[in-house]
Amino acid sequence: MAEKVRVGVLISGRGSNFVALEEWNRRGDRAYEIALVASNDPDARGLMAAKIFGLRIWAKSHKGMERAAFDMLMDAELRRHNVQVLALAGYMRLLSPEFIRAWEGRILNIHPSLLPAYKGLDTHRRAIEAGESFAGCSVHVVTEELDDGPVLAQAKLRIRPNETPEILAQRVLKEEHRIYPEALDTFCRTLRGEAQPTISSDLKK
Ligand code: GAR
Repeated sequence: MAEKVRVGVLISGRGSNFVALEEWNRRGDRAYEIALVASNDPDARGLMAAKIFGLRIWAKSHKGMERAAFDMLMDAELRRHNVQVLALAGYMRLLSPEFIRAWEGRILNIHPSLLPAYKGLDTHRRAIEAGESFAGCSVHVVTEELDDGPVLAQAKLRIRPNETPEILAQRVLKEEHRIYPEALDTFCRTLRGEAQPTISSDLKK
């Protein structure tokens, strides 16, 4: 049996996407295993779940540190745990260009919009206010450009009349939990040479 791809999950808060990744992993024969959960906030709620799962954790506040210096520390920790792929799951901090280059093509992110629309924050309110008919979420490969990079999976929902950003966020979050584990698994299978790449081949590093 092929070895599982060792994934480092980066979180900053609630961590519900991280939980979805780990729960899905436990429900079947997946191509990945979570080798480390890292956070830039030692009080991140998701760390509690990581402890309950018995996963390895690294948490350190980024406050007062240069971005690149913090990322170097995190990078060292990820490498110490032989992490091969990173999954950002509500990691609400920009990564330094040096870090992204070091992990080029091996960082995935989940974003709560139908990329390339609504990059950045407050996506649901902006989509509603713009009168959009659809909202959704995207799993994409992280590049140096914010919320850019090839999209691997998307889920699309019709925005309901008078829907609030909060309700829409809840409905989209359910979809995030559905598509992220599958997209990560397919990505890891592709790295192991089992699945056809659904993205350009330069990402197969
Ligand atoms: C999720 O909705 C995720 O898509 C979003 O933050 C939330 C984190 O929730 N991420 C971004 O906006 C990144 N640009 P979680 O901590 O419960 O997974």
